[in-house]
Amino acid sequence: MHAAQQMKDEWVMIGLQHEIPQLGSRVVKTPQGDIAVFRAADDHLFAMRDRCPHKGGPLSQGIVYGHTVACPLHNWCMDMNKGEAIAPDEGCVPTYPVKVEDNGMVFLSLTPSGNCPGQA
Ligand code: FES
Repeated sequence: MHAAQQMKDEWVMIGLQHEIPQLGSRVVKTPQGDIAVFRAADDHLFAMRDRCPHKGGPLSQGIVYGHTVACPLHNWCMDMNKGEAIAPDEGCVPTYPVKVEDNGMVFLSLTPSGNCPGQA
């Protein structure tokens, strides 16, 4: 297997769940660019590229409500499950799997999980 592919298939440990603020995020720097890991009010975790499909705003600094984040620059709203902009806006960002072990440790996969055409 190619080294880059091995890297993509790995789960990266990014810390403990409670260290990610509720209604906030933590940015993980990866070879694929910055990935924002969000924690919703119900403790669900979501990971998506930290780059708004509109003009590249930092989604990690957006406002989280439900399973949605509003971009801090022009308020586009992104569905964090699918990584898709909510109509009438259009566009998407790659999303990534996140898992939490019993001890609360959070792992991020660098293999995109969504259907965004820009997935890499
Ligand atoms: S850059 Fe995100 S809404 Fe414009």
